[in-house]
Amino acid sequence: MSLVRWIDFQVLGDHRGSLVAIEHGKIIPFDIKRVYYIYGTAEGVSRGFHAHRELKQVAICVAGSCRMILDDGAHREEVILDCPKKGIVIDEMAWHEMHDFSPHCVLLVLASDHYDELDYIRDYKQFVELAKITRI
Ligand code: TYD
Repeated sequence: MSLVRWIDFQVLGDHRGSLVAIEHGKIIPFDIKRVYYIYGTAEGVSRGFHAHRELKQVAICVAGSCRMILDDGAHREEVILDCPKKGIVIDEMAWHEMHDFSPHCVLLVLASDHYDELDYIRDYKQFVELAKITRI
């Protein structure tokens, strides 16, 4: 099964431009408890390099583009995020990295819980070991 799951948002567009509305309990597969966004990323900087034990997220590149790597400990997939009409699901226990941020990239993230550093796995080797146990 592919690690990559997209959510396609309905675009409410007219001659003035486009609008996407995301309402609680509709298209996002969890209750949204936190929203954050990454912007102003300096050239050449990569971010992420972690997985979450429990947290689920949906990332939407609302401006510009970046490249995301998703990794379940056994397989790795790479996608380009460059479309405000689509969100990518970052499940729990999904190692993710973001690279190649374009100038003015804004990555909006919807998250299923509040920020909790204890939920992070920041060591890739530890992640791979934990992912093996989780798969059994
Ligand atoms: P981090 O998750 O490490 O960023 P990234 O994975 O995108 O490289 O977060 C960077 C810093 O911001 C870190 O000190 C934790 C803090 N932070 C919060 O306080 N609240 C949040 O919701 C997030 C996502 C990060």
